[in-house]
Amino acid sequence: MYYHRKNTLVLSIISSVLFLYSFSSYAQPIDISALKAEAITIVKQFGGTLKPQLKKALTEGGVKQAIEVCSVQAPEIAKDLSISTNWQVKRVSLKARNNHSATPNAWERSVLEEFNRRQLQGEKAKTISKAEVIKNEFRFMKAQGTAPLCLTCHGNELSVETKAALNEYYPKDQATGYSLGQIRGAFSLTKKL
Ligand code: HEC
Repeated sequence: MYYHRKNTLVLSIISSVLFLYSFSSYAQPIDISALKAEAITIVKQFGGTLKPQLKKALTEGGVKQAIEVCSVQAPEIAKDLSISTNWQVKRVSLKARNNHSATPNAWERSVLEEFNRRQLQGEKAKTISKAEVIKNEFRFMKAQGTAPLCLTCHGNELSVETKAALNEYYPKDQATGYSLGQIRGAFSLTKKL
């Protein structure tokens, strides 16, 4: 009898240890600040690759060429980064120019609306971002403000040449009429957890 009880005790100790061990290896806490830092690095890579190409094309080839560069390079950079980082990387806007890839999903739309409200309440576009864990996904969005350079192709007063080029490549363009500092759109990054 005593022997039997001892055996049961040993077994229950072993199973408790295994049970706890399984928790420690599977239920890792999510390190939000590390994921955020990773997302910000990718956003910087995106901007850091696109902006110099855009500027170069503008000064060397003019606005039509810069629009061509942007239309080819922006989706290419997003695709390359998505492959190399294992994050889904895109840019979205409430008034999309690229109506294939930049149309926001329901969550992105609500975050973009929140960004506009936050800006109206005084936050600077530069510092506006949002991170959230939804259904085993880490989602991160970072606002992009309208800088002087951006007005050439997203502003109120577009040149005849700009209008013609935009019309040629983006007949359904909605991404004009922005003023300085306004939120043009956002980088949107997702990682499966
Ligand atoms: C030479 C013209 C040009 C300039 C200057 C320019 N853009 Fe764009 N922008 C474009 C084009 C063209 C697209 C569409 C790219 C595509 O097809 O993916 C675009 C798309 C975007 C998008 C993706 C959402 C959408 O509407 O498709 C964002 C966000 C954006 N631009 C922000 C900016 C910001 C911020 C600046 C200034 C730093 C800027 N752009 C400067 C031409 C320009």
